[in-house]
Amino acid sequence: MEVERVQALSHVTLHELPAKFIRPAHEQPENSKAIEGVTVPVISLSQPHDVVVDALSKACSEWGFFLITDHGVEPSLIGRLKEVGEEFFKLPQKEKESYANDPSSGSFEGYGTKMTKNFDEKVEWIDYYFHVMHPPKKLNLDMWPKNPSSYRGVTEEYNVEIMRTTNKLFELLSEGLGLDGKVLNSSLGGDEIEFEMKINMYPPCPQPQLALGVEPHTDMSALTLLVPNDVPGLQVWKDGNWVAVNYLPNALFVHVGDQLEVLSNGKYKSVLHRSLVNKERTRMSWAVFVVPPHEAVIGPLPELIDEKNPAKYSTKTYAEYRYRKFNKIPQ
Ligand code: OGA
Ligand code: NI
Repeated sequence: MEVERVQALSHVTLHELPAKFIRPAHEQPENSKAIEGVTVPVISLSQPHDVVVDALSKACSEWGFFLITDHGVEPSLIGRLKEVGEEFFKLPQKEKESYANDPSSGSFEGYGTKMTKNFDEKVEWIDYYFHVMHPPKKLNLDMWPKNPSSYRGVTEEYNVEIMRTTNKLFELLSEGLGLDGKVLNSSLGGDEIEFEMKINMYPPCPQPQLALGVEPHTDMSALTLLVPNDVPGLQVWKDGNWVAVNYLPNALFVHVGDQLEVLSNGKYKSVLHRSLVNKERTRMSWAVFVVPPHEAVIGPLPELIDEKNPAKYSTKTYAEYRYRKFNKIPQ
């Protein structure tokens, strides 16, 4: 089936946004503006250990979102990751279509235009590229871009660094729950934990005040580590308001996902977030979803449960959790 790509549509120099992209009035950015003067937590990992543990734990409880700096991922590597992704999206449409995914096959790997069923019927102003990066047995290298030819090498290098950083975060976040540093990693599947790359591409939009790049959602991952380009757009929900996230070069933008909320029995909260689009510039972001394998059994960690602290979530496989997304959209 032919899919209408947002990028191709944008190139036709549209003046008016097609109806399917027009959000309900209350969702339009004009009518749900971000609050002024509030900024998200930025945490340097080079601070003393106990300071970092406390800061991360507080950010996960109060925001479900934070930026990390001094994480050790080289700025030049982040720069190369962005370059190869940008190059892919500049390829002729026909070449991109040769990587088109087929969600009806049950896999979203490849070039695509909509990843999940939305809560309403409206469509998001976004194209994406999605593929697994780890573990090796789940790789489907045929679905990785072959052009530019450096795509694979750069992405593999980035994955090594993101895995190292994620494991460090799992350790610190386990400690923040008062537990042994190994608990979160092993509860999520250890070596079987999956790392998935999603390159988000939001072309210039003729009427950005009526559209959304991604609608409000929580990630179903355990954690999502994202780097955006310098075009702003990401907003996170905090205490009844949208808060705009400013670009901070080379910081990693970390989202707590639903699986970490469940494991921590609600101490850590998955963050509701959305992204806006831009009239002149293309916004892009590179999100790595860190997810348990489908068969992993996810529930509140037994160490956190007693008579005074009953389980707030049921225990079931990730496959089951995955298809019942949390709905935190304010009514
Ligand atoms: C996502 C997402 C936000 C962004 O891909 O799940 O929320 O900043 N992206 O692109
Ligand atoms: Ni998200």
